[in-house]
Amino acid sequence: MKPNMKIFDSMKKVLVVGGGGREHAIVDALSRSPQVGKIYCAPGNAGIAAQAENVPIKDTQIAELKAFAIENGIDLTVVGPEASLAIGIVDEFKAAGLKIFGPSKAAATIESSKDFAKRIMAKYDIPTAAFKTFENYDQALEYVKAGKFPVVLKYDGLAAGKGVVIPETLAQAEEALKDMLLDERFGKGRVVVEEFLTGPEFSFMCFVNGCEVYPMTLSQDHKRAYEGDKGPNTGGMGAYSPVPIITDEDVEFSLEHIMKPTAAGMVAEGCPFTGVLYGGLMKTPEGVKVIEFNCRFGDPETEVVLPRLESDIYDIFSAVADGTPMPQIRWSEKVTMGFVMASKGYPGDYSKGYEIDIPELGDIRIFHMGTAMKDGKLVTNGGRVLMVVGSAEDLQKAHDKALEAVESIKCDNLFFRRDIGWRVL
Ligand code: AMP
Ligand code: GLY
Repeated sequence: MKPNMKIFDSMKKVLVVGGGGREHAIVDALSRSPQVGKIYCAPGNAGIAAQAENVPIKDTQIAELKAFAIENGIDLTVVGPEASLAIGIVDEFKAAGLKIFGPSKAAATIESSKDFAKRIMAKYDIPTAAFKTFENYDQALEYVKAGKFPVVLKYDGLAAGKGVVIPETLAQAEEALKDMLLDERFGKGRVVVEEFLTGPEFSFMCFVNGCEVYPMTLSQDHKRAYEGDKGPNTGGMGAYSPVPIITDEDVEFSLEHIMKPTAAGMVAEGCPFTGVLYGGLMKTPEGVKVIEFNCRFGDPETEVVLPRLESDIYDIFSAVADGTPMPQIRWSEKVTMGFVMASKGYPGDYSKGYEIDIPELGDIRIFHMGTAMKDGKLVTNGGRVLMVVGSAEDLQKAHDKALEAVESIKCDNLFFRRDIGWRVL
C-alpha cells in the first residue's frame, strides 16, 4: 500500500489554453494551488515550460484541444485568449461534458463586437461614451464632420488592440474611415464613432457567473508604445496593482453601476457571462465610464494582479465553472509593478529569434509573453516578449526593483518604457 497514492490520484489536472504572459501568470497561480498536481499549457512558451508541460496545439485548434483534454483526463481547462473564446471553445468543451473556465461564444461577443457591447451599455444604462455605429462611409463622415475633435473611431471586430483610431483632424478621420469602411483593410465591417473622454484609465477584472460578480483588485495598463503615453496603441506596455488614484467609492460605483448591471444584462439577453469580465474603465470628470469590455483576463494586467492573489485559484475557477459558492478572495498587501520588454518595431513589424540573457534576479517574477528555445538558447518569439514584475511594500519600491531587473536583461532587439506608474509615483 502506497500511502501517498490516494492523495496523488485526487490531485487535479489543469489545461491552460494560450501562450503569453497572461497564461504564464495563470499557470504560476495554479502552481501555488495545493490541489493541482499537473498543469499543461497549449501552446505555452519557453518560460511557461518551467512550470507546466507545454502541448504543441494552437489556442484556436479547438477539436485538437478537446481531444487532448479527454485523452488526458483534464479536470479543468482555463482559457486565456479572446480568439479561442470568440470561436466557441467553451461551447465545444461543455457539449463534450468537459469543465472549462471562460465565456460562451455568445457571451464573448461583448469583446468581439464593439457595437454589441455599446448596445448592451445603452440598453442597461451603463455609463459610457456617447456613440453611433456606421456601415456607410459617407454617413460616418457626415457624423464626424458635425461633431467635435478628437473623435474616437473603433472598428467593430476583434483587432488585437489596434482597431481604435483617435483622429485630431478631419483629414485624419477621413483617412481612418476610408481604411475601415472602404479599403476593407480589416475585412468588411462597421465603425463605432465615439465621444472622446478624458481621465485616468484602470482595469477592473471580475470573476462572473451569471448575475454573480466577484471583483479582483484593480490594475492599470499603459497602452501606448512609448514614454509619456506617446506613440501607437499596443496590447499594453506595463501595469501595476493596486491603483491608488481610484478611490473605494469609484470601485463601489464601478461594481454596482457597471459590472453588476452588465452581468445582469447579459443574463437578460440570453447570453449569461461566465469567466472573467474585464472592464476597461475611465475616471472622467463626470464619473467612471466604460471604455471597453473584454471577455477574459487582461494582458499584462494579469501578471500584476494574480501574483497578489492569496486564495487558491483552482477553487475560484471551479466555483465559476460549476456555479458553486465562491470562496473568499484574499489579496496580498504587497503591491506589484511590471515592465513589458517588447521587440523593436512592435506594435508594427518586428523580427524574432534574438537571444535573451536573463541573469539571476532574486524575487523578481519574469512572465514570458513571447519567447522560445532555439538551439538551447532563449530567444524572442513575439511582439511583447517579457513582463518583468517587482513586488514590494509600495509602488515606488516595486517600480525600482522591476526597472533594475529590466535593465539587467540583455537582448539586442528589445525596448521598454521606463515611466510605468507615472500617474501614481
Ligand atoms: P479600446 O481598444 O476600446 O480599449 O481602446 C484603446 C484605447 O483607446 C483605450 O485604452 C483608450 O486609451 C483609448 N480610447 C478608447 N475609447 C476612448 C474614448 N471614448 N475616449 C478616449 N479615449 C478612448
Ligand atoms: N491590456 C489590455 C488588454 O488585455 O486588453
